[in-house]
Amino acid sequence: MVNVAVLVSGGGTNLQAIIDAKAAGKLPDVRLALVVASTPKAYALERAKAAGIEGCVLRKEKGEDPALYGQRLLALLKAHDIQLVVLAGFLTILPENVIHAYDHRILNIHPSLIPSFCGDGFYGLHVHEAVLKRGVKVTGATVHFVNEITDGGDIIAQKAVDVLPGDTPETLQRRVMEQAEWLLLPMAVQQVAASIQ
Ligand code: GRF
Repeated sequence: MVNVAVLVSGGGTNLQAIIDAKAAGKLPDVRLALVVASTPKAYALERAKAAGIEGCVLRKEKGEDPALYGQRLLALLKAHDIQLVVLAGFLTILPENVIHAYDHRILNIHPSLIPSFCGDGFYGLHVHEAVLKRGVKVTGATVHFVNEITDGGDIIAQKAVDVLPGDTPETLQRRVMEQAEWLLLPMAVQQVAASIQ
């Protein structure tokens, strides 16, 4: 079993997908050990609580040295013996010391087919707005390892989703979640966990 921490900032539907996959027996090598939220307002914390997973809040203070924030996060992860970290809608930039300590042990889900519509500024609805503006007919989601380049790490899994006539950023976001993110992320977490244990 690999001890996994899920880092969240918002609603936590991707966290829920992982929780549901675990409950359905689809993550045999994964132990959901910890949920870390960047804000106490994250609804994801409620989802963790309901699933009996330990949850906590770790904020990056305004003006805090990224390396110090990284040390605080690393201490928390070490205290829970975390071997694999999953970013599921986590909006704080991870400091380099964390990225280096967990090289090829941090996964992120991005709501487009990387290398399209990714990088700095492409998060949340902005991604889907850009997709619609460019007029591409296919988008999707990508799970990748995290390195020091935003959305630049090795790709683990991708799934395509059609853009439909009349789509708004909101309808497209929902379809990408339902048809790609919620399936892809649990599968990728299990795949990586199985490979490192
Ligand atoms: C998802 O679209 C994910 O791809 C992106 O942030 C969003 C998080 O949504 N990284 P949720 O908090 O999992 O509902």
